Amino acid sequence: MRLTVLGGGGFRVPLVHRALLDDAGGSPAHDGVRCTELVLYDTDRARLDAIGAVLAHQREHHTGPAPALRATTDLDEALRGADFVFSAIRVGGLAGRVRDERIPLAEGVLGQETVGAGGVLYGLRTVPVAVRIAERIAALAPDAWVIDFTNPAGMVTEAMGRVFRERGLPDRVIGICDSPVGLCRRAARALGVDPDRAGYDYVGLNHLGWLRRLTVDGVDRLPELLADTAALESFEEGRLFGADWLRTLGALPNEYLHYYYFNREALASVRSAAATRGEFLLDQQSRFYERARPDDPAQAHREWERTRREREETYMAESREASGGWERDGCDLEGGGYDRVALALMRAIARGERTTLILNVPGRGAVPGMDGDAVVEVPCLVDAAGAHPLATGPVAPDQLGLMLTLKAVERSTIEAARDGSRRAALRALALHPLVDSVRVAERILDAAGGF
Ligand code: G6P
Ligand code: MN
Repeated sequence: MRLTVLGGGGFRVPLVHRALLDDAGGSPAHDGVRCTELVLYDTDRARLDAIGAVLAHQREHHTGPAPALRATTDLDEALRGADFVFSAIRVGGLAGRVRDERIPLAEGVLGQETVGAGGVLYGLRTVPVAVRIAERIAALAPDAWVIDFTNPAGMVTEAMGRVFRERGLPDRVIGICDSPVGLCRRAARALGVDPDRAGYDYVGLNHLGWLRRLTVDGVDRLPELLADTAALESFEEGRLFGADWLRTLGALPNEYLHYYYFNREALASVRSAAATRGEFLLDQQSRFYERARPDDPAQAHREWERTRREREETYMAESREASGGWERDGCDLEGGGYDRVALALMRAIARGERTTLILNVPGRGAVPGMDGDAVVEVPCLVDAAGAHPLATGPVAPDQLGLMLTLKAVERSTIEAARDGSRRAALRALALHPLVDSVRVAERILDAAGGF
């Protein structure tokens, strides 16, 4: 089975490769459905070489079978014959991320990779590229499953899926994120429950969701967790939001909701920081790609691991600062979120191993109040036929209201990106709940250019 990674020179690719190596052994019965070929596609040869060295080190220290590896800068060549396509690209690179942050911040509103005006600007830039890629997949590998890590993931998944549906092809695009599973596992651990034994009632859009129930043997244990301040404030979301607000909500929000519920504090913290997240990463990642020596796998791997660790330690630093200043837990620094979801999804489809995962797919009626084509982030039953969203039951009005508003923002962004419509782009920015004036939206759009 062949897996193609778009954005193959990306920094997190070694995590996926590591997971593939760990999965390469096991029962011979799985030989036909295990990843035997890995194709890395990137627009940047130097990045492929640097990451290639990190992978070479991982392979030197691995015993047992490993997938054959190939790197290319030719998209069509990468796609032909692919069974799975992981899309993890960053259109405009980290320099683009900095602009998405700085342009809104100059107007006094949040600029962030996926949230607020920054997320809309990122979407406007990314959707056209994602759509072109979907068109090439539809032409060259129409049976492939597409696993989308590319942010803003909800929007990009919906835009890519539409390309297949418009051509009468089955929509095999599935968006993934590590935030929901991270939240669920942290909540279970805080209860002293084995995360793999619990059931999670989670609903939302990507980076905008809530864990509403956590069941063990049919019993909802979330009320118990909400009542226990110490347990609640022992993990990330409890510290971010505070026990009182979580009890008031009666649910555990995704970490990205900190930008909504504590917008003023988050914004103040982002504005007072010397560098934005994008600026920090632009500097940190450029140094890694400059220093990693393609001819010295051990050195490249050392640099990568050090850089990865530092990236994890500084994740969401402004939000942690805004909620009292605290360090991330050791177990949240190991990685193994993003790659684990991707691998679990691929295995479930390729091997027909039924499992439940929180994924981004068209809701098809699973979420009352959202139209069926809208991509939502909900628990899905995954089997050889794909990801089937499970019915969520009614969604609280405040949550559904936010979901509907953000879905309108996402769809206006997609429309603008596809048709070049300034009106749609302005609608997307101005309707975003974290943009506080139409005038602000206009100036942000003008500063970003392109419309
Ligand atoms: C989480 C989110 C991703 C996001 C990433 C940003 O993993 O789920 O969607 O891209 O954080 O992390 P970074 O280190 O780039 O700030
Ligand atoms: Mn995400």
